[in-house]
Amino acid sequence: MSTIVRAPATIANVGPGFDVFGLAVDGFHDVVEAREADGVEIVTEDPIPTDPERNTAGRVALRMVEEFDLPGVSLEIRKGVPMGGLGSSAASAVAAAVAIDREFELGLEESELLRFAAEGERAAAGEPHYDNVAPCLLGGFVIWRSEREYVRLEVPEDLRFVTVTPTGVRVTTEEARRALRERPPSLDDVVNNLSAVALMVHALHEEDAETFARMVGRDRISEPVRKRFVPRYGELREIAYGTGALGFAISGAGPTVFAVCWREDAEDVRTALEDVLNGKCVSAVHRVSDGAEVA
Ligand code: HSE
Repeated sequence: MSTIVRAPATIANVGPGFDVFGLAVDGFHDVVEAREADGVEIVTEDPIPTDPERNTAGRVALRMVEEFDLPGVSLEIRKGVPMGGLGSSAASAVAAAVAIDREFELGLEESELLRFAAEGERAAAGEPHYDNVAPCLLGGFVIWRSEREYVRLEVPEDLRFVTVTPTGVRVTTEEARRALRERPPSLDDVVNNLSAVALMVHALHEEDAETFARMVGRDRISEPVRKRFVPRYGELREIAYGTGALGFAISGAGPTVFAVCWREDAEDVRTALEDVLNGKCVSAVHRVSDGAEVA
């Protein structure tokens, strides 16, 4: 017997919502298959560590095996989420937590699954943050404050999210977070982001897709510092808006960028962004995902 779980890519921050907003998208997934074993074992053909302590899914398994006194678990991992700003480590961590929960019939609550997944992800960021794991598990657009205070909202159907991940550019989340501490936002920047996030939430309640998407491009906390990690960031931004994007920002800690577009403009925006990077990237047009699912 085994349990297979697919967990989606996620866009953390969604522009101005640093460490608070996250969005699940449906173009890329990690797949984790859990089955009972002696001890914790990672099986994969992808270039990721197989030492469970150094693997995000493995760390989840170690904690869950210990806490619930399980015999052990073998996790077979197939990576589909590109590394670098699309919640790749969160996808494996969430898929592992859900797969172990189902395989061993633990019946865990959402908040417990999130706690295990976030613990697994701590390895990648050096500190826990939930704006990838929460939308990855729950789907949709998530506003995160704490394990007891979070909410999932629906995003207007007509919007698409174009992601572009430059190849050969490595930025660790830890490094990208350190850079922010070296240039903390000014009071003006904070006020700017507060007004943008407030308008985004209001826009979702009003089903006002255009305002929601426009505010995505108004971040002044992360973008001014992190744009240097993204090759040709200024050109990408200009081309995105020039080909019809409504909003444009860095996805999570980067170097992935994303554009929010009307459905009919998404392919044009994707092609234009790929051209700026001479095709040296992985790109996709996404709808919003419903979150991790048992296959
Ligand atoms: N909110 C986090 C950050 C997401 O921007 O550092 C990292 O995936």
